[in-house]
Amino acid sequence: MEPQNSNKERVFIFDTTLRDGEQSPGASMTLEEKLQVAEVLDDMGVDIIEAGFPIASNGDFEAVSEIAKRAKNAVICGLARASEKDIDRAADAIRHAPRGRIHTFISTSPLHMKYKLQMEPEQVFEKVIASVTRARSHTDDVEWSPEDGTRTEHDFLCRTVEAAIKAGATTINIPDTVGYSVPEEYYALIEMLMNRVPNIDKAIISTHCHNDLGMAVANSLAGVRAGARQVECTINGLGERAGNAALEEIVMSLQTRGDVMPFFTEIDASHLARVSKVVAAAANFPVQYNKAIVGKNAFAHESGIHQDGMLKNAQTYEIMTPESVGIKATTLVMGKHSGRHAFKDKLKDLGYELGDNQFQEAFQRFKDLADRKKYIFDEDIVALVDDEMGSGDDRITLTDMKVVSKTGGEHVCELTLDVEGKPVSVTVSGTGSVDAIFNAIKAAVGADPHLVIYGVDAVTGGTDAQANAHVRLEMNNRIVSGRATEPDTLVASARAYLNAYNRLLMERGASAQGALAG
Ligand code: KIV
Ligand code: ZN
Repeated sequence: MEPQNSNKERVFIFDTTLRDGEQSPGASMTLEEKLQVAEVLDDMGVDIIEAGFPIASNGDFEAVSEIAKRAKNAVICGLARASEKDIDRAADAIRHAPRGRIHTFISTSPLHMKYKLQMEPEQVFEKVIASVTRARSHTDDVEWSPEDGTRTEHDFLCRTVEAAIKAGATTINIPDTVGYSVPEEYYALIEMLMNRVPNIDKAIISTHCHNDLGMAVANSLAGVRAGARQVECTINGLGERAGNAALEEIVMSLQTRGDVMPFFTEIDASHLARVSKVVAAAANFPVQYNKAIVGKNAFAHESGIHQDGMLKNAQTYEIMTPESVGIKATTLVMGKHSGRHAFKDKLKDLGYELGDNQFQEAFQRFKDLADRKKYIFDEDIVALVDDEMGSGDDRITLTDMKVVSKTGGEHVCELTLDVEGKPVSVTVSGTGSVDAIFNAIKAAVGADPHLVIYGVDAVTGGTDAQANAHVRLEMNNRIVSGRATEPDTLVASARAYLNAYNRLLMERGASAQGALAG
């Protein structure tokens, strides 16, 4: 039998969820979360994982370095600006990877060179050669990007690309940094480079498209059709501003429309649903309901006509099966009589392997939930475990809370927190229950971060569904997100606020109470 992809060309998948994705305001992840995301990316067959920007902070360096040590099959990549310091730091971070890559970049568009870099084109040109040469002195696998490539003059772009390849770049990435391109234009740009750069056959061309006009995936696929063989993308399309091209959409477009795009990737698409959930939980970034491939509604059929068609033949309204992207039929999982063993099997089935302590905590919470909620679904277990993983290191936790609300009257929250082992109790009012809770937490910790986003979502249907609360806070130019899942909406809200506040503390290495005041 002929292999399925014998007449197709391979496209390499470069995932930048942990770098460009994590740069998205509020999407910062802890080391533990980054390691978890990297592991699932590696397991699902991502070719290159851009694990971070090592010079940006010690935390970024540590994450890239730890991911490099644990890599199984993926190439681990670190980002660097065009400076020796950046490049040497990236080299140090990827040192332990079985296969490591340095990705170095500099802006080449007239606008960026004049205003951002304040450099003449010839100075930029020299930097391209120097930076790629430096990176090549550390590793044979070097990627170079002309930032704002799609708004760069063609002659200059061709000169810099040619020089970068001559200096040793093995991948040339063409960023549509501001998401300005349209597919025809991006196709023509890649085609132009293929035709005009004399040594272009010595490097792989890569796409890196942002989604400001909603065309990141279409532009990336246009680039592939024109000759690019690497696509840079992120899970759930996470990324700066409107995000990057979504990995799951790229993979499933190539898989589903092989008839018009004869390309394949080595991604195991049955991991897509799970990796989407892992990233959404780690980055505290909910996925929109109608998001292609991984949104809650992506395979839902509500209207009677559609449901009727589906019953007769699923292909009437489904161009791919939910199973092909790893969505399993929702199952009623367990109840209060389910034991430790069954719970462990269920976790395994859902893709979790917890350490002993985490397992004990999760099992205890499952038992508590089973006492309060009659039916427990897969989604409940996923939410519970993600909550456990995301709040395990919190230094300030909720001990006790009472909220009294009256229509047209006062809303008062009585609250006790555990602040690094010390109980702190306050009673504070607000314009509503949630306002009273958040005011009480602010009073107890002695800080007043700006609330950017607050939202609550039900994990499953029914009035006894668990509430998934999401809070984004801003303080001293830093934005972080927190989340919590609880049977009670108000408790979930309080814990989500605390989870975000704990992240502010963690990032700054501050002492808990009053550390962020002012
Ligand atoms: O969007 C962009 O230009 C980037 C570069 C660093 C590749 O992310
Ligand atoms: Zn980018």
